[in-house]
Amino acid sequence: MADQASRGGERYATPQILDYTARTHHPSDHSLERAFGAPARHGMPEIQLGPAEGRLLELLLRLINATKVVEIGTLAGYSALWMARALPPGGHLWTIESDPKHAGVAAEVVGEAGLGDRVTIIRDDARAVLPKLCDSGPFCAVFLDADKGRYDVYGRWATENLRAGGLLIGDNAYLFGRLLDDGEDAKAMRRFHEEMAASYRSVCVPTPDGLAVGVRLDPKA
Ligand SMILES: C[S@@+](CC[C@H](N)C(=O)[O-])C[C@H]1O[C@@H](n2cnc3c(N)ncnc32)[C@H](O)[C@@H]1O
Repeated sequence: MADQASRGGERYATPQILDYTARTHHPSDHSLERAFGAPARHGMPEIQLGPAEGRLLELLLRLINATKVVEIGTLAGYSALWMARALPPGGHLWTIESDPKHAGVAAEVVGEAGLGDRVTIIRDDARAVLPKLCDSGPFCAVFLDADKGRYDVYGRWATENLRAGGLLIGDNAYLFGRLLDDGEDAKAMRRFHEEMAASYRSVCVPTPDGLAVGVRLDPKA
């Protein structure tokens, strides 16, 4: 059920409730702790996903039996670790990171977790990388978590390179509360939503900053 307050956007989560539910459903472990703490240890921005969002990514990838996944925005590899854990042997995650320091820290984190064989960290701007990645597709899922003003461009690439039934997932889909503004990045984010709605069966999950999730419709159907 929902009530008027929660329909209007009020949240009943408290830090204590979030902590309890995270500990109960997906207790952290050494590798995840190391990955989550890596931005703080290395003086990087602490803008990684929360644990529940990471777990949700893992579950979504498991639900579709994902084998080939692309992520834009690696940071220190926290979300990459969650997604790599969902992959079967032989599955692969390509994660793109433009900041060399972030990519270096992520390589350490992924290596320490023993997942280096199924994760490729590509150290470049996503705009340069994506055209070269097409040959490795079609992909099962594309997760966008960087460069929010270009989600429309990245979304179009995903639509061209996902298999039917594949997932397009975009974090910060409320654009930090600026989704309905007049700025160019807000317009681009609205195009992302509207184009996703046209080619996917989709929803924007009301996480703190919105998580857009769409299942690619079969273009031949
Ligand atoms: C929000 S963080 C990613 C967090 C990560 N997905 C996680 O949850 O652990 C965004 C990252 O994207 C990188 N980035 C920004 N613009 C980019 C671009 N155009 N191409 C590739 N990486 C980019 C930033 O350097 C930053 O490390």
